[in-house]
Amino acid sequence: MLKLGVNIDHVATLREARYPRAAAGEPDPVVAARLAEAAGAHGITAHLREDRRHIQDRDIWLLREVVQTRLNMEMANTPELVRIAQGLKPDIVCLVPERRLEVTTEGGLDVAHHRYSLAETRKRLNDSGIEVSLFIAPDEAQVEASEQVGSQFVELHTGALAQRYGNPQGRAAELERLKRAAAQAHELGLRVNAGHGLNYENVIGLFDVPYLVELNIGHSIISRAMVSGLETAVRDMLSAMAGYPL
Ligand code: PXP
Repeated sequence: MLKLGVNIDHVATLREARYPRAAAGEPDPVVAARLAEAAGAHGITAHLREDRRHIQDRDIWLLREVVQTRLNMEMANTPELVRIAQGLKPDIVCLVPERRLEVTTEGGLDVAHHRYSLAETRKRLNDSGIEVSLFIAPDEAQVEASEQVGSQFVELHTGALAQRYGNPQGRAAELERLKRAAAQAHELGLRVNAGHGLNYENVIGLFDVPYLVELNIGHSIISRAMVSGLETAVRDMLSAMAGYPL
């Protein structure tokens, strides 16, 4: 069964718009996490950014206490965040780029150029009992470098698919790249997640991509929640994903 990780960053984005850096305020991403889990989400994803633009330290620590499924902490590869993760012990860390220099032309982490520091961080996190995922473009060189870094997962960037989904040729080309990258990662022993820009429509396109374990979806679920409520929005996404063949 294809799993759903609900990204709750946008709940915090809305809160920060009114209550920046306050001790409390609504909407609360921790409450959102509990509702998403109650609706059947398999995991909760939150990105503690260096600039604390949305998720705050208070959120990530409370999430660690309340999340009953799996807590996926997204973060940049910096000494400060690695220290926080080592203390927090999320179930998994997904390393993502936050600075232009770390990003490939297609938006994922440039693992090929940062393999030594990523391997060091991967080891530190694994030694603390935390699994590691790398958010990468569906690109052969990045998949290969991820295997060399020793991560347990890759998360394939689906942003280009989402952008080109309305164009049949573009969609087919992006799906081909995702299929190839997923197969390559699986062959190298990596587990495969995917995310970014997925919604209730384009998620169906991923049914042709093999070996997917989990999708991380934020914006479309939180947007639908505004009108339908979060639990309905999560259940709708789980039904949209139910046709995945594995
Ligand atoms: N995966 C990663 C690594 C992300 O950084 C994000 C948030 O940008 C997502 C998935 C979720 O993306 P979206 O909000 O577009 O669903």
